[in-house]
Amino acid sequence: MKTILFAVVAFAMTACCNQQTKCEAEELASTPVVYGEVIELPAPDLSRGMNISEALQNRRSWREYSAEKLSMEELSGVLWAAAGINRPENDHLTAPSALALYPITVYAFFEEGIYRYEAKGHRLVRVKEGNYMVKAGAQGFVETAALNLVYVADLTPYNERKFPVEKAQYLCGQDAAGYAENVNLYTAGTGLKSITRGGASPEVLQVIGLEGEQYFFALAQSVGK
Ligand SMILES: Cc1cc2nc3c(=O)[nH]c(=O)nc-3n(C[C@H](O)[C@H](O)[C@H](O)COP(=O)(O)O)c2cc1C
Repeated sequence: MKTILFAVVAFAMTACCNQQTKCEAEELASTPVVYGEVIELPAPDLSRGMNISEALQNRRSWREYSAEKLSMEELSGVLWAAAGINRPENDHLTAPSALALYPITVYAFFEEGIYRYEAKGHRLVRVKEGNYMVKAGAQGFVETAALNLVYVADLTPYNERKFPVEKAQYLCGQDAAGYAENVNLYTAGTGLKSITRGGASPEVLQVIGLEGEQYFFALAQSVGK
């Protein structure tokens, strides 16, 4: 009898402990972002979110956003989805790239400033302080969304291979669409919102500080809640 009672208590404790561990894991961290010169992003939480089929079912374009900011953890997930390194042995990214040239750089526009995403180190480096959201797109919601991503291509690797510029721009656009769709699926699977956008201000490259014919605005995207 004593043995049976012990076994029942032990089973109940294990079940309780497993439940607690699960609950703790489900309690998602939510650290506010400090917009310094560098934003060192935490490692992406790979346990976050729905499964890929559910995320696909949820995916849609959003055109209404609250002013609520993204947490460090959400920002980390969004940027890792866009262009994070998922194979450190060759530095290849979550998104594919034609000829593995990776000509796209992701710029993050916040109310607080513009940042460049560095996949190596998984961090954002400030390019400029201040609110330039209006340069990231003309639609009203662009200024409300917590984050706007601007995908800029550097055509240099294509120029070196003597690719016709139209073909190079086409492939860069395809690369950027892959990055953006990764983000759309990440947001759909984690309760965030996003939309891929084809337009930005003609001054967007200048505002980022990119001068020269090799730079090409490929795509934009709004992300938020
Ligand atoms: C390359 C590309 C560019 C887009 N540009 C814009 C845009 O500038 N503004 C906008 O409101 N939606 C834009 N969209 C979103 C589409 O309008 C949207 O995907 C379409 O209406 C289908 O809706 P859904 O995404 O909710 O399925 C773009 C989508 C893609 C793929």
